[in-house]
Amino acid sequence: MGSSKIMSFSFLACTLFLMSGTSLAQLTPDFYDLTCPKVIEVVGSVVKAAVLREKRMGASLLRLHFHDCFVNGCDGSILLDDTPSFRGEKTANPNVNSARGFEVIDDIKSHVERLCPGVVSCADILAIAALESVLALGGPYWRVNLGRRDSISASFDAANGNAIPPPTSSLDNLVRTFQAVGLTADDMVALAGAHTIGQARCTSFRPHVYNDTNVDPLFASLRRTNCPIPNGLGDNNLAPLDARTSNHFDNSYYNNLLINQGLLHSDMQLHSGGFTDRLVEEYGRDPIKFNVDFSAAMIKMGDISPLMGNDGEIRRNCRVPN
Ligand code: HEM
Ligand SMILES: *[C@@H]1O[C@H](CO)[C@@H](O)[C@H](O)[C@H]1NC(C)=O
Repeated sequence: MGSSKIMSFSFLACTLFLMSGTSLAQLTPDFYDLTCPKVIEVVGSVVKAAVLREKRMGASLLRLHFHDCFVNGCDGSILLDDTPSFRGEKTANPNVNSARGFEVIDDIKSHVERLCPGVVSCADILAIAALESVLALGGPYWRVNLGRRDSISASFDAANGNAIPPPTSSLDNLVRTFQAVGLTADDMVALAGAHTIGQARCTSFRPHVYNDTNVDPLFASLRRTNCPIPNGLGDNNLAPLDARTSNHFDNSYYNNLLINQGLLHSDMQLHSGGFTDRLVEEYGRDPIKFNVDFSAAMIKMGDISPLMGNDGEIRRNCRVPN
């Protein structure tokens, strides 16, 4: 049949086209299969040990990957310390007094360097550590994409700009910041489920528990006891993002939102009469759908503007360019 011949020809042409240009290179789960086949296992064992010492570390490592990817792509830039030639991202607003887990990444990197020197990027270590953290706290598995390379610089200004949404964000702003990196509103709702683990500082949730109206009154008064006014007092006091099961990766974050017990203003924006209400309700009902969508969205987030091929470098020390 003529039409099937045409179809198989165009399939072949398409395949050849995809195999030719390097500009079409993509991250792939088997990137280190020949050069460092044990990398996922080794990262996993260091992450598991760290989470055993302190459950919150799983949350902190997951967040590092998010903050890395949203600022100039998943290029390990968040890990760089300040140098004489640039100010890094660690002291930018979304990270200062808040981003943590850098020592665990150093520990992972030294194990991985012993195993396969000069092969595995810090950006990939962040992506694997995020997966292994979620697994260690009972969350879903995904086939983590690999092959990212590390930036040779970092950007304080980019990290301090509006790439990473603040907790005061409106729903519109949340949607916009995710769309700016190629993620949809649905991806955003699924990824926000990461707030099923970890902690936030009083300074992040104070305005919400004092001033917002879509807050359960008992929940708000409980959170206020550990978060005094005025600003400045107790700014770094911590509260769980998901008070029900803060060390367990599950869908209870969404069920908190349904009863006005989201900790951040931005959390409650996802269920405050807007178009994302329906998906929040669905994830609250259906933990399996949440796991499936979260995993897919993590892969999408991990694919944001990676450095590949001959771009960037494989850092020897995640804190400094080679
Ligand atoms: C939807 C927009 C988001 C906003 C506005 C937001 C905001 C925040 C804020 C303000 C904190 C607390 C920081 C502090 O007070 O120290 C936090 C913590 C956290 N965020 Fe998000 N976040 C968002 C999305 C995400 C995503 C996409 C992920 C990962 C996939 C994530 C993972 C986490 C984790 C795990 C913590 C706890 C970290 C720890 O305990 O060390 N967040 N987030
Ligand atoms: C609550 O809102 C008022 C009026 O906008 C503001 O002055 C005050 O600082 C806010 N309180 C907190 C804790 O954010």
